[in-house]
Formats: sequence, structure tokens, C-alpha cells
Amino acid sequence: MSTPDEDAHNREEAQNHGAAVGLRGDKITIRGGIPLVGRIELKGAKNLVTKAMVAALLGESPSVLKDVPNISDVRIVRGLLEVHGVKVTDGDEPGDLILDPVDVESAHFADIDAHAGSSRIPILFCGPLLHRLGEAFIPDLGGCRIGDRPIDYHLEVLRTFGAVVEKLPNGIRMSAPNGLHGAKVELPYPSVGATEQVLLTAVRADGITELKGAAIEPEIMDLINILQKMGAIITVDTDRVIRIEGVERLEGYQHRALFDRNEAASWAAAALATDGDIFVGGARQAEMITFLNVFRKVGGAFDIHDDGIRFYHPGGDLKPVIIETDVHPGFMTDWQQPLVIALTRAHGVSIVHETVYEQRFGFVDALIEMGATIQIHKECLGGHPCRFGQRNFNHSAVITGPTKLHGADIEVPDLRGGFSHLIAALTAEGTSTVSNVGIISRGYENFITKLQLLGADFDLEG
Ligand code: EPU
Repeated sequence: MSTPDEDAHNREEAQNHGAAVGLRGDKITIRGGIPLVGRIELKGAKNLVTKAMVAALLGESPSVLKDVPNISDVRIVRGLLEVHGVKVTDGDEPGDLILDPVDVESAHFADIDAHAGSSRIPILFCGPLLHRLGEAFIPDLGGCRIGDRPIDYHLEVLRTFGAVVEKLPNGIRMSAPNGLHGAKVELPYPSVGATEQVLLTAVRADGITELKGAAIEPEIMDLINILQKMGAIITVDTDRVIRIEGVERLEGYQHRALFDRNEAASWAAAALATDGDIFVGGARQAEMITFLNVFRKVGGAFDIHDDGIRFYHPGGDLKPVIIETDVHPGFMTDWQQPLVIALTRAHGVSIVHETVYEQRFGFVDALIEMGATIQIHKECLGGHPCRFGQRNFNHSAVITGPTKLHGADIEVPDLRGGFSHLIAALTAEGTSTVSNVGIISRGYENFITKLQLLGADFDLEG
């Protein structure tokens, strides 16, 4: 029998060596019905790390970011930084990234265009590149197809700071002939990306910026931590107002990224749906309070430890819930897809009202094929009207349980929907083939190795 130290070592080894495994096969055959049991470790949040890498562009000296996960979104941002002359190297510890922006330069159009359609992060390069080079070219964006995902707020914000925006057939060109100046900005909706756009532009703009209607997700607060380390002056008020005093110079930072609470919630949902017991190392209570409340209401149990959170099914029937996704501190949109699988097992009718993205229920078709009873409605069913209510969007789901899922051949539609498909296959009776699983490695580090560690029964194909 191995000691706890040996176990920890083996876990780390397996996770580090498994880095590429998740990307080799694009199809996975899962034999369901086995509870996931064991311990996995989280690294930094995808939705912070990628922005922190962009922030490094603003410094006059190198930055060191710790706990960077090996996911494809990070590799895309790294590639885009490198074509702009940023030297990106791995540090001594696994997950350390050193970003040296001292020789930042304009990139060749073809090198930037090679990143078209791969991610939504390039839009956040605008402010830093305008400060450093006076111009920026942004390729057509990608990201999950979970709604229209316009960038109107971003462009409006940049124009307010003084940028000149020119739309091209294959991207956007931006310049700042008169520099960038602090501004009063009010967002029509507390968009995460647009708030980050304001922060990354305002910190080095001339004068004071006041942002009203800001998003205040923990990942944004951690980006503010980073910018403050670099020399920025940023005040966060209680009423979604952020004030930024522009400074002339920022230095590099040293920072350990906030843990990935979306990944934590995903494994928690997997533990509950499979009757399992997963210790999620690195997860913290403070950033997950809203999720933990809902997890408990559904019938899940959790124990908070200094080094992580244990999520498990304590026995007994799961209970239905009404969830309305929202901006922080509400229930995150990224949490609903994985949790829906557990709701197919709950005794009664659950409602999920999606108020952040207008089309985030594409993943349920596969679940219906597997035996789930789910209806999608255009009305706002959670109790509160949202922006999508009168606009013909299928954005409320009614899940009637308990139903038993059976194996099927299904195809991953997007990142979080994909993880929910994995959980569905792990829960189902019989064998499922899940294709297009490469998408999942955009946001889940070494998920194949983690599934192995937790005792899942599967084969990779392709
Ligand atoms: N919106 C606009 N115009 C804009 C920007 C946003 O109408 O210019 C709308 C969007 O269409 C959406 C809403 O505002 O309906 C919220 O979008 P937001 O800008 O907040 O989202 P984002 O910054 O594009 C990030 C995460 C998402 C996460 C959301 C909400 C990253 C890279 N992505 O997206 O994560 O769901 O915030 O918290 O940080 C994921 O990780 O799978 C993911 C989709």
C-alpha cells in the first residue's frame, strides 16, 4: 500500500505526463456507471490566466505567472504574444510562465491572422498594443458558439479612450493617433470581457477613468491584483464602480493565479452525478459560495479543507432546484451545463433560466437522445424577466427527473457543454462514444489523466 506522500507524487507525475494525452484522441468511448472517486489538483483559472498573460504586455520588465494550466487557450494566447515579440518561457516549477515584453513589436499580418477564430482573448490585446505600439490588428474572434457574442461594448470602450477603429474584411485595425485618454464609461451589461478591456486600457491611459456597471467576478478582482502589483492605481467601489488613475509606466509582476472555480464546479458536478467522491485540490470556498449553496440544495455534500474541497454524493435522493444564471455574485453560467446531468437524476422538476448567454442549451439535444426529459422554452421561467425574454431565444430549460441515461454516440458542442457530455456518458448505463473532445482541452487541463485517476472506464480513439 502506498503512503499519502507517494500517492500525491504519483498524482502529480500522472497529471504532468498526461499533458498531451487529452489532445491526442478526439473521440472517447466511455463505459458508464462507475462512481468517480479520488483526488485531482486544480491550476489557475483559464479566465484569469489568459488575461494575466495579456497584462504582461503592459510592463516594461518581465512578469512571472504561476499555476498556468496546460490548456489550448493558454497556448493560443502564448502564440499571439510571441508573434508580437514577447519572449515566453517556462519557469522552473511546472505551471510557471515567464513573459518578457521588452522587445514588443508589430506582428506580421499573416502571423496574427493565423490565430483567427481560435479564441476571444485577442480583443483584449487592443489597449496594451495601442499603448505599446500605437496600433493593433485583431483577427476574427473565436470562442464557444453559445450565442451571438458581439464585441460592440469593447469597440465602444476603445473609441471612448480615443482609439480609431477600422473594420477590415478579416479583422479589425486600431490606432491611437492622439494617444489614449481616461474616460467615463458605463456598460449596458456587466460584461466580463468589456470590464477587462477598460482595465487593460485605462491603467496606462492619460488621466482618470470611471467605469460604471462593471463586472466584479473573482477573476477580474485577481486581474486587478496583478495590475496593482505592476504599479496601477485602481479603486473598486461597492456599487459596480471601478476608478482607475492612469500611470505612465508599469513594471512586470509575479503572481500565482486564482484557482479555476469553473473546473472545480465541473468536477463537483461529476462527483454528484456519478455517486462519486472527489477531492478537488486547490478549490476555495470564498469564490464558490453561490455554487456550494446550490450543490447542497440538490443533495450534494462538501467538506471545506485548507488545501481544497471534497465534493461527494452522501446517499439519498437528489432534489430539484430552480437556478437562474447571472453575473457574479450570482450562479455562473459556466456552472449550469455540468450540473444539469445531476438534475436529470433529481426527483422532480428543475428549472435552469440562462440569463447570460442566449443560446447555451445546445448541449441538451444529446442528453435527450440519452434518455433525459428536458424541454427548452423561450420564456423566462426562473421568476425574473431577463434580457432574452421578449427576443425569441431558447434560454430556459425544464428538467424532469429522475431519468436514467443510456449510452449513445454524441458530439461535443462547446467547452462546458462538452464536459457535461462527459459526465452524462460516465453516468449512463452502457457505452457512449463522445466525439470532438479536443474542445474540452481548451479549458480543462489533463482531463483524460484526471478521469484515469478518478477510476473512469474509457478508451481514447483517433
Ligand atoms: N456582450 C455584448 N457585447 C459585448 C460583450 C458582451 O453584448 O461587447 C454580451 C455577451 O454576448 C453575453 C454577455 O454580454 O451575452 C456577457 O458576456 P461577457 O462579456 O461577460 O463574457 P466574455 O467576457 O465573452 C467570459 C468568459 C466566459 C464566461 C463569461 C461570463 C473568458 C475568456 N470567457 O466571457 O467563459 O461564461 O465571461 O462569466 O473569460 C467559458 O469559460 O466556457 C466561458 C464561456
